[in-house]
Amino acid sequence: MTEPIFTDWRPELAEDWGRAPLCARHRLDRHPLFSFEALAALIEAYPRAHYALVHMGAQGGKREWREGELGGLTGAEVIEAIKAGRMWLNLRNISAVDARYRDVLDQIFEEVRRNVPGYTTHNRTSGLLISSPNAQVYYHCDLPGQSLWQIHGAKRVYVYPNRPPFLTPEQLETIALTEVEVNMAYDPAYDAHARVFEIGGGEMLHWPLNAPHRVENLECLNVSMTTEYWTEAIRRNQMVTMGNAILRTRLGLAPRSTATKGVRFWAKAALQAGVRRAGLLNAMRKAKRPIDFRLDPLRPGQIVDLARQPALLDAAE
Ligand SMILES: [Fe+2]
Repeated sequence: MTEPIFTDWRPELAEDWGRAPLCARHRLDRHPLFSFEALAALIEAYPRAHYALVHMGAQGGKREWREGELGGLTGAEVIEAIKAGRMWLNLRNISAVDARYRDVLDQIFEEVRRNVPGYTTHNRTSGLLISSPNAQVYYHCDLPGQSLWQIHGAKRVYVYPNRPPFLTPEQLETIALTEVEVNMAYDPAYDAHARVFEIGGGEMLHWPLNAPHRVENLECLNVSMTTEYWTEAIRRNQMVTMGNAILRTRLGLAPRSTATKGVRFWAKAALQAGVRRAGLLNAMRKAKRPIDFRLDPLRPGQIVDLARQPALLDAAE
């Protein structure tokens, strides 16, 4: 039998799964698919359409994100650049891009299903995040069920309750409509209500649905994996959120019910399906950021502004 990925599963984890933030141990930090050599090879083969390289701007400066490309560096050089810079590389949907990582994801959720009776998941995805020392992920929440798997390095993760004032129904509706997850209002006073975890390689976190969270890398290169999934209950929650969002923004109503059964539920399910079919949501979703830099092959961690490229070409002619 394959060695389990969770290495210390215990009954309390089944009790807490989905109900409270929890930390469990795993062995992906020692798994050959997650060694730096394997990650470097993965980066080199990764399709352009499926990665995002984001630069965070100067420390202490304005919250300014730019999106760029790897610019022909080797995988090992990309990892060096991230270690020396202020950026992160998101290898999105790795489980769809590479079947070996799909197998890991399937094994994880098969173990969850065995350990948490009745916890059947579908539409599972995973992504790998390689991020610079001290990088941050701002306060936000996600719509699907989510877990964070630390592979290399260490980070501090703050997990907040999934109720007002930390998360309001209106905020959840806005995220469902716009797919922008990081514009949530954050108050440092919330931290007194957060569960704070410092996790290193071989530890993973899972939290209740939609629980807001934020992440601070410690002073080291970080490699982590996020896994996302849907259950029937989460899918129904999402349909209600979307239905309520449409009632509130399009029809000026103030929906109060979040029931996932009965007449009201099915009316909202039909309403949001109709709006989706009509393609009305796309108009509310933000355009993607332009690609405006590439990594500098000569100065690890630095970037080259793509907007200045024509001038460089002129000079070379
Ligand atoms: Fe998240």
